[in-house]
Amino acid sequence: MKIDLSVEAGGVRMASPLLMASGTFGFGREMDAFYDLSILGGICSKGLTVAPRLGNDPPRAAETASGMLNSVGLQNPGIDAFLEHELPFMRQTGCKTIVNIAGYSVEDYVAMAEKLTDEAIDAIELNLSCPNVRTGCMLIGSDPLQLTEVIQAVRAVTDKPIWAKLTPNVTSISQMAVAAADAGADAVVLINTLMGMAVDWKTRRPILKNNTGGLSGPAIKPVALRMVSEVYQQVDIPIIGVGGILCAEDVLDFMVAGASAVQIGTANLISPCAAVKITHDLRQLLGKENLTRISTLTGTLQLWS
Ligand SMILES: Cc1cc2nc3c(=O)[nH]c(=O)nc-3n(C[C@H](O)[C@H](O)[C@H](O)COP(=O)(O)O)c2cc1C
Repeated sequence: MKIDLSVEAGGVRMASPLLMASGTFGFGREMDAFYDLSILGGICSKGLTVAPRLGNDPPRAAETASGMLNSVGLQNPGIDAFLEHELPFMRQTGCKTIVNIAGYSVEDYVAMAEKLTDEAIDAIELNLSCPNVRTGCMLIGSDPLQLTEVIQAVRAVTDKPIWAKLTPNVTSISQMAVAAADAGADAVVLINTLMGMAVDWKTRRPILKNNTGGLSGPAIKPVALRMVSEVYQQVDIPIIGVGGILCAEDVLDFMVAGASAVQIGTANLISPCAAVKITHDLRQLLGKENLTRISTLTGTLQLWS
C-alpha cells in the first residue's frame, strides 16, 4: 500500500511530518553522514542570535529519569556566519530549511528576520523563550504583550512563514497561542523545554553550572500532548508538536491530538538514526490500519465530554 506521509504546516509543504528540533540536530552536517536527510520533512537550525555565543559553562547537560536537562545557553556562530557557512549546506539536504532565531529584544528578532527575508529558507521559527534584557528576567514568551510585539514586528519585515515556538513555562499556553495567532504567526510550535533542576546532595551543588536547565525527552510528552490538545481547541493556525517523541506511535499521538507536523529532539541524541526508524515504522503502522494519508489524522482525537 502506498502511504502518503506529506503534510502542510504553517505555510510549508513537506514530504514528511518529521522535523528535526532546534538544538538537537545542529545544521544537519554531522547527521548527513548517517542517512539521506531528504527523507525528513525539514531541519530546524540551532537557535541563532545576532552575535556569536559560546554558551554557558559546563556541565551543561544532565540525565534525569525519562529525560535530560540542558543549559547549553544558545551556543551558536551568529546569524551572519550561519548565512555564509551553514545555510548553503542546509539548502542542499533536500528537506525544508527552518531557521530558528532567539532574541533578547524586539530589535534582535527584527534584525535577524530582515537578514533572512531574501534568503532561500522555508520558514522562520521564533524561539520566544529568551529573557528580555531590557525588562529584566521576564521571558518574552511568557508575556502576551511582548510576544505580540515581537511577532507583529517580524511580520512587518518578512513574508516568510513565521512559526512561534512557545515556552511551556507559563500559566496559560492557550493565552500565548491565541496571542501568537492574532499577531500574525503562521503556526505555533509546542513545546520548548520545561524549566528544571538536578542537584547533588553530597556536594550541595546543582549539577548544571547554570543551576537550572530545560527538561526534554519522554518525561515531558504528557505535558506537550496536553498543550497541543488544549491549543487545538483555541486557535485556527496549524500546530507543530514537540516534546518527548521517541517512536512512530508518539508521532501519531501528537497528530491525533492536533499537530499537523512534529519535531524530534532528544531522540536524536539517543540515536542519530531515530528519524529513519520512525519514518519506516510510521508507514508500517498506517498500512496496518489501512490509513493511506497521515495528514487525515490531525485533530481526530475525541475528548471525553
Ligand atoms: C541540547 C538541546 C538544545 C536545544 N536548543 C534549542 C535551541 O537552540 N532553540 C530552541 O528553540 N529549542 C532548543 N531546544 C529545545 C528542543 O528544540 C525541543 O523543543 C525540546 O527539547 C523538546 O523536545 P524533545 O523532548 O523531543 O527533545 C534544545 C533542546 C536540547 C535537548
